[in-house]
Amino acid sequence: MRRGSIVRIAIYSVLAGILASVVAVAIPWLPTSASEEMDRIEFTFWFTTVICIAVFAVVMAVIVYSVLKFRVQPEDESDGPPIHGHTGIEIVWTAVPAVLVTAISIVSAIVLAQNDDAGPNPLRISVTAQQFAWKFEYPGDSKRVSGELVLPVNQSVKLTLHSLDVIHAFWVPEFGQKSDAVPGVETTLVITPTRVGEYAVVCTELCGLGHALMRAPVRVVDRAAYEQFLAGEASAGGDENSGANIYATAGCGGCHAFEPAGSDSQVGPSLDAVDPGGTPLEEYLRTSIVDPNEVLVGGYQPDVMPNTYDKSLSDEQIDALVQYLVEGQK
Ligand code: CUA
Repeated sequence: MRRGSIVRIAIYSVLAGILASVVAVAIPWLPTSASEEMDRIEFTFWFTTVICIAVFAVVMAVIVYSVLKFRVQPEDESDGPPIHGHTGIEIVWTAVPAVLVTAISIVSAIVLAQNDDAGPNPLRISVTAQQFAWKFEYPGDSKRVSGELVLPVNQSVKLTLHSLDVIHAFWVPEFGQKSDAVPGVETTLVITPTRVGEYAVVCTELCGLGHALMRAPVRVVDRAAYEQFLAGEASAGGDENSGANIYATAGCGGCHAFEPAGSDSQVGPSLDAVDPGGTPLEEYLRTSIVDPNEVLVGGYQPDVMPNTYDKSLSDEQIDALVQYLVEGQK
């Protein structure tokens, strides 16, 4: 091979590498990291991307060089020369990718192990998913339960995920980590938030009609604000059992419109002006919560609303929810 050919292939490689690098860097492929785990995932992403760009650049250069250099002349219909391969080149193009892929798998395995390690003393928060809401239970004497996830910054957190009905998936893009919540199985997820701010849990497993609305707010706060959050509601005296709070944590707003709660979803019938059709309103609402198929509002299908609320909510909570709905009637 002549020196000139090698120089040309090298120039094409650099050009293809620059082009691919611009595409990789100029487009924000990943959200800005807000956790240690996401930092490691980003490292793996860029480690892999740099290798891919290098391979892409060399392959593109050889292709472009060959297309230009060995293009058949017009009217030339003779066969190409018989080529029997080149053992040396075949060894190289097998060995180099093998080394690169092995390197990627080693880095990935280390990152997976680190991202699964919550350290000696993580904060443990229980996450319960159900169609179509998230519920978070915190450790400590206050037994705080909320519909938003509040995390102290720079503290390793171990989430235990549960599902009451079908498979959901917990994902906060800025935290990187993702895991399914599977009925009957306890899965875990480690997150160490590094940036104070507001984020969102997104359900990423198709779980029914309200799937696209199955989100929950996430707040990363400093230690003092977290302690305040834990203690504050406890001293407020069972505020979390108010109808409004149950409406939010049980996920009613994921499917129903109800003006006092500010929800306007149309997956299920509106709760703003319920027509109990002869039954006392309280009784009608209660039945509809625990046994949604008992009475179907015209145009709505059976088996869409979960029938698990008599298990996931206490009698007192259902009473409070019914009262909240009654008071909000137009
Ligand atoms: Cu829960 Cu999708």
